[in-house]
Amino acid sequence: MIETKILPVSDLEKDRESIERAAAILREGGLVAIPTETVYGLAANALSPESVQKIFVAKGRPQDNPLIVHISQICELLPLVERVPPKAQKLMEHFWPGPLTMIFPKSEKVPLVTTGGLDTVAVRMPSHPVAQAIIQAAGVPLAAPSANLSGRPSTTTAQHCIHDLSGRVDAIVAADDCQVGLESTVVSMVCDPPKILRPGAVTREEMEEVIGPVDLDRAVTAQLEEGAVAASPGMKYKHYAPKAHVVIVEGDLEQYARFVNSQERPGVYGLVFQGEKEFLEKPCLEFGAMDDPAQQAHWLFAALREMDELGASEVYVRCPSKAGVGLAVYNRLLRAAAFEVITL
Ligand code: TXA
Ligand code: MG
Repeated sequence: MIETKILPVSDLEKDRESIERAAAILREGGLVAIPTETVYGLAANALSPESVQKIFVAKGRPQDNPLIVHISQICELLPLVERVPPKAQKLMEHFWPGPLTMIFPKSEKVPLVTTGGLDTVAVRMPSHPVAQAIIQAAGVPLAAPSANLSGRPSTTTAQHCIHDLSGRVDAIVAADDCQVGLESTVVSMVCDPPKILRPGAVTREEMEEVIGPVDLDRAVTAQLEEGAVAASPGMKYKHYAPKAHVVIVEGDLEQYARFVNSQERPGVYGLVFQGEKEFLEKPCLEFGAMDDPAQQAHWLFAALREMDELGASEVYVRCPSKAGVGLAVYNRLLRAAAFEVITL
């Protein structure tokens, strides 16, 4: 156990001391959980193998699962990569800073422990002002996976972060809840057309408007066959899972309600869209309006965590639409459910 400092930031000017403290810990090789617009991240100096190694230990993360390197300005990208393809240049002009991670051939400067042994590196420029201020003050790029224990839902509030990482990291920067709520879109720029490895708030359609065709990796919506090599190693692990057994239920509200209401075992919960609670005779939580995937994204991980607190043993989830940001919501739910989908 190490002592974890809580560094509150509600106002960037007023709480400058928290930012400086966080930056100093990072420069000295420590671990600091920081807010970003997507989810909280567990940061360390991306260029120091010893520092990055601590992330894997604190999270209990498999060593072959590569990390995203966070920068605060475009000029910080060049030393990290071999080259910047023209389509990547266009995407960063449109979507950086923001919830888009791009994969490039890595330079010598990036240690292999950061990239899980791969010769490519994932880079993102977060838009969250606190994240930007910390990267700038630290003066080094920051490797940061989501700030949760490996396999658990990502953390979207300071409280969730403290719950998972207290005693395991040097400090936690406690700011507001993350606005997006799901991790960034990950797109590989080492192939042409570029390929989405993990869907997020920046959608395939939005990217296609800027650079033309973009592929979608099969693993986004399908389970990898035994022994298959994952383009994005993170996709092969069971993920985002609360302790309860999660099942996605496809069907209309009436079919769904009839199905869940007929489950007679104790500990059965529903996870439904806004306004649907009254149709269930079982306890349930809502996670956003049916026609508002951005709202579902914002609430999903908090809802999955709350299921644990309520002691749910089985969670039946209403199936989200797979269009736009809905694809990201569906992708995370599929992993939380270990690909168990019931079609009524
Ligand atoms: O929004 C986010 O992206 C958050 C915040 C903190 O920035 N970070 C995040 O990191 O979600 P993490 O480590 O939980 O997810 C990184 C994903 C994993 O699925 C990993 O396998 C993939 O990106 N990835 C990272 N580097 C890669 C590479 N070189 N090639 C393929 N996939 C890569
Ligand atoms: Mg993660």
